[in-house]
Amino acid sequence: MKIIDSLRYGYRMKLTFSIACVGLVMMTALVIVRYKLLQDILYEKTDVRINSIGALIASDLKEDYVDREFINLQERINSLTNKSNISFISLMDGDNKVLYSSIEELPGRENAVFDTSTNIRKNISGFVKSFPVMDKSVNIATVQIGFVLTDLPRDLSRIFKTSVIMSTFVVLIIIAAAWLISGGFEKPLRGMCAVTQKVAAGDFSARVSVENRDIIGELGMALNKMIEQIGVLTADLNKKIKTTDIKLEEKTVHLTELNKELTKRTEELEISNKKLQEADKLKTEFVSIVSHELRTPLTGIIGFARTLLKLDLNEEQKINYLKIIEAEGKRLSGMIEDFLDISKIESNTIVLRLATEDINAVIRETVESFNVPENRKVVVELDGSRPKVKIDKGRIMQVIFNILENAFRYTPVHGKITVSTRVNGGSVEVSVEDEGIGIDKTDRDMVFDKFYRCSDDVTKKSRGSGLGLAISRGIVELHNGKIWVESEKGKGSAFIFSLPVMKDG
Ligand SMILES: Nc1ncnc2c1ncn2[C@@H]1O[C@H](COP(=O)(O)OP(=O)(O)OP(=O)(O)O)[C@@H](O)[C@H]1O
Ligand SMILES: [Mg+2]
Repeated sequence: MKIIDSLRYGYRMKLTFSIACVGLVMMTALVIVRYKLLQDILYEKTDVRINSIGALIASDLKEDYVDREFINLQERINSLTNKSNISFISLMDGDNKVLYSSIEELPGRENAVFDTSTNIRKNISGFVKSFPVMDKSVNIATVQIGFVLTDLPRDLSRIFKTSVIMSTFVVLIIIAAAWLISGGFEKPLRGMCAVTQKVAAGDFSARVSVENRDIIGELGMALNKMIEQIGVLTADLNKKIKTTDIKLEEKTVHLTELNKELTKRTEELEISNKKLQEADKLKTEFVSIVSHELRTPLTGIIGFARTLLKLDLNEEQKINYLKIIEAEGKRLSGMIEDFLDISKIESNTIVLRLATEDINAVIRETVESFNVPENRKVVVELDGSRPKVKIDKGRIMQVIFNILENAFRYTPVHGKITVSTRVNGGSVEVSVEDEGIGIDKTDRDMVFDKFYRCSDDVTKKSRGSGLGLAISRGIVELHNGKIWVESEKGKGSAFIFSLPVMKDG
């Protein structure tokens, strides 16, 4: 604001100063011209006055000079000298010899003539002038008069002073007028300045008030038109920016959603990838374990077959070898069955042939079909309510078979094995209890994992792939049941699985 104010007053000051300068120059010129003019007039007037005084004195003295009344002449000269502005009067004859003079000490009295070449313009305080004394157009003598002009310098000085005072006064009036006029010029410009400031601050409704149709008025009108156009353009631009902003916002929202979706998909992909990697790792492990497991019976089969071919054996020996080959073959076949089952369970491609069965009957059938060694015994204790279940009979028999097989495998020769059923709520629990080696707490959670075998001596000595319980769990869960183990190391184990009982059964 200060800068604008200084510019504002600067403009007014400049205008006033310029006008004042012009006024001052003009007034100075005017003073000089006036002074010169008045000086000339004053000189001329003084000249005329001196000439008439000189002519009068010359004609006054002529008569006494012609009549040779010299005493009178002296008196007249003395009396005339007493007049103001005359310092001396001298009368000279035709040869310029001074006859009478009002001053005694006239230098060169014999032929003393003052230098009359001085004129009033050169010496305004005093000068000498000669006037001829004429008689019938004949120059009979010369009167030399010394004038003292004390009034002239005083008058000139007065003229000069009044001129200067007058011009100073006029210049002051000019300055005041210039200040007022420049203020008048500045007022509309100041208004324009205020309007442009408002426009710059974003107020496009501001308008310059046009009072006159002069150049400033035209400028104001042009400014108003310009502000109107800027206002329209700005409104249009703001509208476009708003639309673009909304579109951008929408796009940003869309992009954010897309980004979220992308992040979600990426996470899903990462999980899938991890799963795939795990599956790939598991597959590699599975293949390596399977190959390893299959190699043992295969090596046996191949070895005995070669011995049969190469050696000259008797009939009995041959039969023994062939029996071994058959047993290993059966084991191989069983293992392959297990591998296929676990892979079907894991890939969820196992197909159950469900039918309503009496679970007690299924257990009895399984135990009967189980090849129980002669010196061993299985005790069967069945629930009296004959619970009905919807099961794939073959698969559930396979589960009972696996658990029974384990019970025999991990139980000393004289241990008792009890198979029982018990209805508990909406389920029937099938339990296979042995008096075997039992299972450690740490192993209990893992015996249902595929290929897991405990590290005890009994397990190490027995042959198995660690798939029986994993397959059993898969089958039970497919029937919406549960399987678990209750055991203590050295005190036998109870493998229990539950199946939902049919409501009408
Ligand atoms: N009744 C049991 N008593 C003690 N340990 C058992 C019993 N049943 C299973 N186990 C332990 O659990 C492990 C896993 O059993 P699982 O039936 O899955 O495999 P496996 O019997 O070793 O081999 P497979 O059944 O494939 O021939 C066994 O190796 C064994 O160590
Ligand atoms: Mg087993």
